Amino acid sequence: MPTAANPPAGPPVPDGMNPAVVLAQRGRAELEFLAAARASLAPLRARVRDRVEASPAAAGWERDGAADIARLRAEVAAELDGMPEQAVIGAALRWGRRTLTPRAEDAFAERRDVLTGLAAAPDPGAIADRGDAAVPRYWKYEFHGTRGGWDGHEHMGFVHHELVYRHLLVPAYGDIFAQRAKVAGAAPRDRYRAICDLGCGTGQYTLKLAERYPDARITGVDLSAASLRYAQRRAADRGLRWDLLRAPAEDTGLPAGGHDLVTSFILLHEMPPHAVAKAFAEAHRLLRPGGDLVFSDVAPYRRRGAHQAWLDDWDAEHGHEPWWRPAAQADLVAVAEAAGFGDVRQVALGPGSYPWVTIARKPGAEHLREGGAS
Ligand SMILES: C[S@@+](CC[C@H](N)C(=O)[O-])C[C@H]1O[C@@H](n2cnc3c(N)ncnc32)[C@H](O)[C@@H]1O
Repeated sequence: MPTAANPPAGPPVPDGMNPAVVLAQRGRAELEFLAAARASLAPLRARVRDRVEASPAAAGWERDGAADIARLRAEVAAELDGMPEQAVIGAALRWGRRTLTPRAEDAFAERRDVLTGLAAAPDPGAIADRGDAAVPRYWKYEFHGTRGGWDGHEHMGFVHHELVYRHLLVPAYGDIFAQRAKVAGAAPRDRYRAICDLGCGTGQYTLKLAERYPDARITGVDLSAASLRYAQRRAADRGLRWDLLRAPAEDTGLPAGGHDLVTSFILLHEMPPHAVAKAFAEAHRLLRPGGDLVFSDVAPYRRRGAHQAWLDDWDAEHGHEPWWRPAAQADLVAVAEAAGFGDVRQVALGPGSYPWVTIARKPGAEHLREGGAS
């Protein structure tokens, strides 16, 4: 039987994934079919892109300083009205979103005997929990079409981050783990003593933080119990130990001033704007004076060309991302400053301005020297 120490033969396993994951033939074939169906749309997508880029709507977007996404959407909708390629893409996207999690759950069920052993938390009782009363209503939405939300399956963390990521997202978007490593490396100091990863999920970014700052004590906060259980497993499989807490990022209940880095990777676009502002305020509270904030999220529409901005917004609307548009339009510099941060800046770490990172410092003491948090 394949194990982590004895991985199965086959294509290389993406960095950050458990090499021991093997599916039964049927489950693997279904997920591969979904990935292939998605990939087969590429020529249709290219035709739509050409049409959008040549449209007066695109010229208007560039001319008006990429300011009005609602207008761009309306003008492009009129341009694409009746275009069969776009109708097929829309139907395929809606079908894929409905189908993906159930097929991944089925694939898990077929190999439950082996996969439960790879997915289960070694010590679930060690995950601290603020309780159900602390869970905001917006979090229960079925983001990405995850049936039942992030906790819709006992092992949703594993199902989503090992099966869906491995079979769908990595083939579609390439090395999404390298992006996390880049963001971890964008923090201003070489060493941190105590790091808090808000919206840590199953610990994929947390792992990159642990690799980059091996001396730091790491706390991961998320609202998903299933994700935290797999995060604990991910850490334990690598001989690591993280403090894990089920709580809202905007109200963790952790002691004030206990961290020198508070960070997140693709959390903010899953929160409504009022909660994003609270998460910045909570990060400020959690940091000691002189500590750093590093929040990475979706690229702003103003940094995208007309086709890419239109596609982001269209995909978000049809792909269960209710807070993407506000996130892509937010002025996070102003939000950070309103929360009390100074030295606020934003950097793009990849093509199309993604990952897009907001970096800031809590004003105060000089005792956190550059190159080493004392
Ligand atoms: C797209 S996942 C990203 C997970 C992880 N940072 C990574 O790099 O893979 C977003 C995560 O944010 C969590 N989340 C969303 N809103 C939250 C909130 N208000 N407080 C804590 N976690 C939240 C979700 O449960 C989910 O695990």
